[in-house]
Amino acid sequence: MNARILVAEDNADLRDLLQELLEDEGYTVTTAADGREAMAQIERANQMIDLVVTDVQMPGLGGNQLLAAVRESRGETPVIVITAFGSVEQAVEMVKAGAYQYLTKPVSNRDLLMTVEAALARSAPQREQARLRRMAVAPERIIGASRPMQKLFELIGVAARSSSTVLVTGESGTGKELVARAIHQISSQETERKGDFVPVNCAAIPAELIESELFGHMGGSFTGARQARLGLFEAADGGTILLDEIGELPLAMQPKLLRVLQDGAVRRVGANVERKVDVRVIAATNRDLEEDVKQGRFREDLFWRLNVIQLRVPPLRDRPLDIPLLADHFITKCCQAANRMPLEVSAEALAILTAYSWPGNVRELENAIERAVAFSTGAAITAEVLPERIRTTGAVAAVIARASEKILTMRELEREYILDILRRTEGNKKRASELLGLDRKTLYRKLDEYRAEGFLE
Ligand SMILES: Nc1ncnc2c1ncn2[C@@H]1O[C@H](COP(=O)(O)OP(=O)(O)OP(=O)(O)O)[C@@H](O)[C@H]1O
Ligand SMILES: [Mg+2]
Repeated sequence: MNARILVAEDNADLRDLLQELLEDEGYTVTTAADGREAMAQIERANQMIDLVVTDVQMPGLGGNQLLAAVRESRGETPVIVITAFGSVEQAVEMVKAGAYQYLTKPVSNRDLLMTVEAALARSAPQREQARLRRMAVAPERIIGASRPMQKLFELIGVAARSSSTVLVTGESGTGKELVARAIHQISSQETERKGDFVPVNCAAIPAELIESELFGHMGGSFTGARQARLGLFEAADGGTILLDEIGELPLAMQPKLLRVLQDGAVRRVGANVERKVDVRVIAATNRDLEEDVKQGRFREDLFWRLNVIQLRVPPLRDRPLDIPLLADHFITKCCQAANRMPLEVSAEALAILTAYSWPGNVRELENAIERAVAFSTGAAITAEVLPERIRTTGAVAAVIARASEKILTMRELEREYILDILRRTEGNKKRASELLGLDRKTLYRKLDEYRAEGFLE
C-alpha cells in the first residue's frame, strides 16, 4: 500500500511542489494551507495518514501546535518539519518535542525523499500496531485487520455516508448484522439522521403477518387486529431498517416492498392513505440472490432496487489473519463475563484455530471459544479443550500448512501426516490405519521405515 502523506504549508507554490514531488514517488498526498486545515484533515482522515510534513510558521495554528496535536492523538505518525532560515530555532524545539527531523528551506528533493522514506520505515511497526488497535475498536467493535476486512471497512464508510439501499451478503455467521449496525451507527454519528436501527428477520415472521409487521395496520383491518399498529418501517423513520434474510421474503410480498422503496411511503394494512417515511434500507442474506432471481424465487426488479451498494462480508477462512484477533476478543469477552483473568492460547491451539476452515464463520469461532473458556482450568486454552471436530480437521490442515511453509516432498508430507494421526490415536495402529484408509500391513511397513530413518522411536 502506498503511504499517505499530509503536507501542511502556507506557501502555495512550495505546497504544490512538495505535493508533486511526493506523488511522483507514488505517495498519496493531501495538503493543507494552514495549521487549522491540517488539524481538520487529520481528524477527518482518521487513521488514514502515515506521515506529516509541516512548515513551522503558518497562519492560525503553527507547526508546533500541529505537532503537539499529532503526538497526542496519533503518536505513531512521524512529523517532518521544513523550516525557513528564520525559524530554525523553533524547528529544533519541535524535534525535541518529538518531530522526526527538520529540513531547512530550500529543501533538496533528494533530502526530503530520503527523510520521508526513513521516517516511514522507522515508524512502520508502530503504525501497524496502531492500525490494528484502531481496527479492533472499529464501529460496533468489528474486528478485522485482514485486507478483505479493511476493504470492507472502507465500503462501510462509503455506504454510511450515502443514503442508498445496501445489500449485505455473506455466509452465515460472517457478521452481516454487525456490518448493518455499523453502517447505521456511522450514519447517525455523521449525519442528522437520528432515528433508530430496526432489525427485522424476514424468515421469522409468518407470511400472513409480514405485511402488517412491516407497514402496520389500522384497527379492525383483519381478524385479531383490534388496535391500529405502527409498522416497522414507521418505527425506523429517520433511521435504518435491516431486512435480514431478505431471500426468505414471500414472493407475494416482494412487489409491495418494491413499491415502498420506490415511493418512500407506506400504506398501513386497511388504510387509504400513504405516509411518507425516511428510512434507509439495508437488506441482508446468506443466499445467492442472483441465482434465486434466475430460478424465479426472487423478483429481479426488487433485486436491482436493493442491490445499489453491495457489501460482501468475506468468510472467515479467507481471512485467517483475523482469527487470532477474534479469538482474543472473544476470550476477553468471556473471561470478563465470568470474572476470570484473561486466558492465553497455547501455540498448538492457535495453529489449529488458524488452520480450521470455519464453515460456521465467526459465530462458530465465538462458540468454540466460549466452550474452551468454560472447559479450561489452567492459564491457557490448549488443544484439548477445543471441540473434537475443530481439533481433528484443524490439525490436519495445520500439518498441511506447516508442510507448505517449508515445502515438503509428497513422501515427507505423507510421513508428517501419518505420524500426526498416530499421535492423535495415541499410538493405536488399528484406529490409525482406519482413519488413514491404509491397510494395516502397509501402515506397519511405513512405520518401520520411519523408525529406521529415526523419525519414530
Ligand atoms: N468481525 C467481527 N468482530 C467481532 N465479532 C464478530 C465479527 N463478525 C461476527 N461477529 C460476531 O459473530 C456473531 C455472528 O455475527 P452476525 O450475527 O452479524 O452474523 P450474520 O452474518 O448476520 O449471520 P447469519 O447469516 O447467520 O444471520 C455475532 O455474535 C457477532 O457479534
Ligand atoms: Mg444475521
